[in-house]
Amino acid sequence: MAVHDTRPFYLNLLKIRLPVPGVVSIFHRVSGVLMFLAIPATAYLLDLSLQGEQGFSRASEILAQPFSQLVLIVLIWSLLHHLFAGIRFLLIDFDIGLDKEQSCKTAWLVFAAEIIAMIIIAAGIYL
Ligand code: HEM
Repeated sequence: MAVHDTRPFYLNLLKIRLPVPGVVSIFHRVSGVLMFLAIPATAYLLDLSLQGEQGFSRASEILAQPFSQLVLIVLIWSLLHHLFAGIRFLLIDFDIGLDKEQSCKTAWLVFAAEIIAMIIIAAGIYL
């Protein structure tokens, strides 16, 4: 008797309802890649800012532009998400928070921690 194959033959990414630990995991990869891609630009800005008073002012000017501010916000979020999710993954490597319920709780905890950290940093910068 032929076995009926019910596996999907295509995957519609928009229809996949990923559980929250899956979202944390994907964002962890995305944030790691974003930070990696940002290394040349951030190294350039650091180098520029260390080239005396003029270089520092030029770097400050570049960072004050709206587009730079947007990139900066995305990079700060990337670092925070990657840091908190990374700690979660390291704990999972030590078999801490493995079961489904705990895994969901710690995933929400990662989002809560990064939102609180973003608010504290934003308050430090803009207030
Ligand atoms: C802030 C402290 C950091 C912590 C605690 C951390 C932690 C981790 C951990 C635990 C993994 C492995 C995840 C897994 O098992 O799938 C990982 C992967 C990775 N990290 Fe980090 N990391 C940190 C900073 C960074 C930075 C600064 C960058 C980039 C400049 C980076 C880029 C990456 C990339 C590209 C991966 C591979 C992602 C993947 O294949 O899913 N990490 N990180």
